[in-house]
Amino acid sequence: MCGIIGYVGKREALPIVLDGLHRLEYRGYDSAGVAIHSGKGIKTARAVGKVAMLVEACDGKNFGGTAGLGHTRWATHGKPAEKNTHPHTDCTKSFYIAHNGIIENHDELRDELRAKGHTFKSETDSEVIAHLLEEEYRIFGSFEQAAQLTLQKIRGTYGLAMVSSYEPKKIIAARMGAPIVLGLGENENFVASDASPLLSHTRTVLYLQDGEMAVVMPDSYFVTTLDNKVVERGSETIEWDADKMQKGGYAHFTLKEIKEGPEVIENTLRGRLITENGLAKLGGLQSIEAKIRAVKRIIIVACGTALHAARVGEYMLEEYAGIPVEVEFSSEFRYRKPMIDVETLVIAISQSGETADTLEAIREAKRKGATTLGIVNVVGSTIARETDVGIYNHAGPEISVLSTKAYISQLAVLALLTVFLGRQRQLSLSMGKRILEELETLPPKIEKIFEQEQKIRKLAKRYAKYRHMLYLGRKYNFATAYEGALKVKEASYIHAEGCGAGEMKHGFIAMIDKAFPTVAIAPSDSVYDKMLSNIQEIKARGGRVLVIASEGDTRAIKLADDTLTIPKTLEMLSPILAIVPLQLFAYYLTLERKLDPDRPRNLAKSVTVE
Ligand code: G6P
Repeated sequence: MCGIIGYVGKREALPIVLDGLHRLEYRGYDSAGVAIHSGKGIKTARAVGKVAMLVEACDGKNFGGTAGLGHTRWATHGKPAEKNTHPHTDCTKSFYIAHNGIIENHDELRDELRAKGHTFKSETDSEVIAHLLEEEYRIFGSFEQAAQLTLQKIRGTYGLAMVSSYEPKKIIAARMGAPIVLGLGENENFVASDASPLLSHTRTVLYLQDGEMAVVMPDSYFVTTLDNKVVERGSETIEWDADKMQKGGYAHFTLKEIKEGPEVIENTLRGRLITENGLAKLGGLQSIEAKIRAVKRIIIVACGTALHAARVGEYMLEEYAGIPVEVEFSSEFRYRKPMIDVETLVIAISQSGETADTLEAIREAKRKGATTLGIVNVVGSTIARETDVGIYNHAGPEISVLSTKAYISQLAVLALLTVFLGRQRQLSLSMGKRILEELETLPPKIEKIFEQEQKIRKLAKRYAKYRHMLYLGRKYNFATAYEGALKVKEASYIHAEGCGAGEMKHGFIAMIDKAFPTVAIAPSDSVYDKMLSNIQEIKARGGRVLVIASEGDTRAIKLADDTLTIPKTLEMLSPILAIVPLQLFAYYLTLERKLDPDRPRNLAKSVTVE
């Protein structure tokens, strides 16, 4: 997601901060800014686009100063625009803040601050922090105290760095759910959202923990809890090289992004569950809630991985919201004569929000009078802007061409939408509650799947010799079969085909022999017995079978040649778990074949031409 770098020392701050921002570029961002304390006051520069544009914006300006902050922003609240770029300031321009994360109670805090006369210049949730600092400082006259009281008032996640014009040689940093690391040098110290911008200066670091605040000066620092208890913790030495650092210590973005799964689900769900009432809070849909209540039919348009998410959504929405759903390749939708009226909701799912076919499908749907809804990851992207309403994924930037974390976040959003639409209709309070409660249990369940990583690696070694593979699934995991196969094709170039298990007998079975293995997704759900029959049919023809089974299952495991397990969950949510071992399997198959999973040949992350 966003990146933070802060410096306080004896050297000129601006070049160090700009270099730090360059080193944070790998995280993905859409705008960048700096705030440098010149000794007399704070000077800033901000730019939409690359850090290079910010460097240009700084050119010729005399910042001076030996303390400052920089930030690369990945939009969550408010589109990429200069006014939304960090660092943000208060009405008196005395405090500048760089924030990663989401402030959940920003609406109510903004209302309170407005009532006290504050004016806001951005659409961000983050700006409230600067105004709160101003407010608290006015009462207490202490930067530290103002910071502590501000942090006590905000709810949500933050990795935060703050500077004040009143204190030229001090940065205050804090962490709640989004990482902050201090870099400790000789007569200089640093604050950053990860260690990558620090490595060229120091390898001695101290990681803040949630609920901690650090006051950082050139020659010293101290860490406290939010209620001012001193924290004593030793520093650590980083051994990683700079390249690995960029990827958070992982060898590839693909692996890093798969491993972000638990955090991604938490971010997608954050602030959206009203579990006690079995309701999903989807702020973006509020404006047309009544219109959505009248929807009689849904069409989902998407491409690639997003299309597979749509296919899972189709089952969820029909089963629990009771609305007929059709899923359509965006690229075909325009060339049909789709039957659309004002009671049709057309949903576009797109990670990038820029896929040309999906965009054109949405434009066509609007022309025909449909209400359009975007499930998009990139804030402010074209599809996000052109759809009537939207739900952002909050999955953070996805750098690898292979879509992994965005996929599971799309499924989580579809589950939330199912509860939202279902509760407007016949879905019971108890079932709504059950879905939301189960969604919350997914992050640790995904972590549990990661425990099989070494086994997956070994399996990949065994399967990398095959030239073809079949992926089978039914019902909710019909799409998992297609998505699992897509990952393998995209990165390892092994020919893998997804197939609805029921369709297998109508063609695919002719291909099965010992050189054509099958991956069968067979959790203990309502189609489990049918999946077992299909597995038996493959075994009878000499095919090797790798089964994705539920923990505790014995029958599928007995039949299979190889097994990976997933924790138990609601059937409708099982695709969120079932895809994770398959993503890892595809990743390790790719490594076995000595290919780069981050950059598969011929593919683009975002297909902006038809
Ligand atoms: C490309 C990417 C896929 C992605 C698809 C749809 O093919 O390589 O990973 O699923 O586009 O992209 P979107 O941004 O619309 O989700």
